[in-house]
Amino acid sequence: MEHVPWARDLARHLLAEPLPTRWAHVRGVGHTAEDIAHIVGDDAELLICAAWLHDIGYAPDLNKAGFHPLDGARYLRDVEHADERLIRLVANHSCALVEARNRGLAEDLAGEFPSPADLVLDALTFCDMTTSPTGTPVDLEQRLAEAFGRYGDGHLVTRSLTQARPLLEASTSRVLVALGR
Ligand SMILES: [Fe+2]
Repeated sequence: MEHVPWARDLARHLLAEPLPTRWAHVRGVGHTAEDIAHIVGDDAELLICAAWLHDIGYAPDLNKAGFHPLDGARYLRDVEHADERLIRLVANHSCALVEARNRGLAEDLAGEFPSPADLVLDALTFCDMTTSPTGTPVDLEQRLAEAFGRYGDGHLVTRSLTQARPLLEASTSRVLVALGR
């Protein structure tokens, strides 16, 4: 687990001061990842690091493309020279490709950061989708309902989450099975 302090400290450095609520969410996601990491075996450290780093693209200093999975992944690649699998997880968390398509960024995302499409990505998505924007535990239904209410009908994020919903449900289900719940 030698890289976990690096991931947590980097996320804190980038998010805690400018975006305290986002940092609270990330702390919840990080702790959920620590709780469920055993299901991915040798990739436990990878999952936990990705959980801490998944939203760094929201940091004002990183916001270049205006799409946080892509901005976060590019920062990890270009500045941190991070592990390739870690970068791909951050780029593709919570079905990012669906929203990337709606933003005209699908070729950038898929070209630079192909999806790992494995249980680690499912687990990362599960952690994000079962943590509220303020860091409290919720289920997927509550998480989506909150986002729909926050963004409103017709918003690109609402449309993207609606399209991604079956994929998010499938990821969540696979993780629940792995957890024996
Ligand atoms: Fe998140």
